[in-house]
Amino acid sequence: MKALDNIKILDFTHVQSGPTCTQLLGFLGADVIKVERPGAGDATRTQLVDVQDADSLYFTMLNHNKRSLTLDAKTEAGKQVLERLIKTCDVLVENFAPGALDRMGFTWAHVHELNPKMIMASIKGFGPGPYQDCKVYENVAQCAGGAASTTGFRDGPPLVSGAQIGDSGTGLNLTIGILAALVQRARSGRGQRVQASMQDGVLNLCRIKLRDQQRLAHGPLTEYSQYGEGIAFGKTTPRAGNDSGGGQPGRILKCKNWENDPNAYTYFITQAAAWENICAVIGKPKWKKDPDYATPAARLPRLNDIFTTIEAWTKTKTKLQVMEICNPLNIPVGPILSMQELAEEESLRKTGTVVEVDHPVRGRYLSVGCPVKLSDSEVEVARAPLLGEHTEEILCEVLGYSADEIAAIKESGGV
Ligand code: COA
Repeated sequence: MKALDNIKILDFTHVQSGPTCTQLLGFLGADVIKVERPGAGDATRTQLVDVQDADSLYFTMLNHNKRSLTLDAKTEAGKQVLERLIKTCDVLVENFAPGALDRMGFTWAHVHELNPKMIMASIKGFGPGPYQDCKVYENVAQCAGGAASTTGFRDGPPLVSGAQIGDSGTGLNLTIGILAALVQRARSGRGQRVQASMQDGVLNLCRIKLRDQQRLAHGPLTEYSQYGEGIAFGKTTPRAGNDSGGGQPGRILKCKNWENDPNAYTYFITQAAAWENICAVIGKPKWKKDPDYATPAARLPRLNDIFTTIEAWTKTKTKLQVMEICNPLNIPVGPILSMQELAEEESLRKTGTVVEVDHPVRGRYLSVGCPVKLSDSEVEVARAPLLGEHTEEILCEVLGYSADEIAAIKESGGV
């Protein structure tokens, strides 16, 4: 038994944001029917191709645990199949450009009329407002949601993050909305509209930066490095480099072999409670009681000096040695792990966070499994479907069309 057994998802998503949501629902046991345009399919199938003639990793890593049905929603026969899908499924998920679904004739009013229990979930770049009609991709959302303006170093340009917070982050929000709507439907008997904007999703993850924006009205942000360096604050939350957002000074420091390895670094937090242990470990026992170093306030103007001294120590150890030494002393540190290291990490394989999947065209590949673990709903990661692989199976088994009807729909170009 799986958490979402018997829940049918009409997956009308493409690229990254929507597919991450429906993939998660699939991991949790839902029957996800991905509807794709005949002949082309999700554009990511042919983007960043590494193995000739095989669906790209971009596609396969975002579309596990789904079945693929090819359907032309702009033909009469295709629309009829789509209507039957809407009447049969529990949730419709889509992330088309604003207005695209309406132009196909499937407005929320029409969908709700066809199936009052249907939950219709959408991702758009922006919510209602001046930008509501814009098409939006990951980095646009990171820039419009406050992440880019607060990421990077003060003296450099805004930066986007490697984490796909706009796409995969919003996919998570949509999943939460869908699950809540399913719970509510069990009581009310009614479906509802669930909407998530990528700008909202990014801003939600930048909550502490909006906190800092308001704190600026009451004085400088003392935990930012620029405060200790005597650099004045402007009118808006500045970029804070690698400072930690929690108020405890932290930096990324070089470790042994940093000259040759771009990831030989550790994050190091000078947590107030661990100060005496830090002094002991870096060979500065006198700093424990020295009034210039003993309190967090005294340390603020000396952070460059302090971190340079700590780095002189971390440079003598590998990033994993730093972790082994500091963890038992309650000094929070984090090795900068590369993608290669994560791919090879045994413990992540054991928990199913990194999985190896077999694919009939590309062979074996690595993917990220379900990031949340349920004790009573085991996740089995199934490879992404080939384009239209399950068209007949779905028409016959899910929608109940006869062989003659299927032949006629195919003949008309509907599927
Ligand atoms: N049958 C018939 N037509 C189909 C179809 C199908 N099965 N699937 C898609 N289409 C059509 C759409 O109806 C649309 O036609 P229209 O422009 O005539 O209305 C067309 O394909 C293109 O869809 P669109 O969503 O506009 O794709 P795009 O490649 O131009 O834009 C995005 C891509 C991602 C920018 C856009 O979909 C978007 O902004 N989505 C919302 C935000 C989002 O999720 N962004 C993150 C993506 S990772």
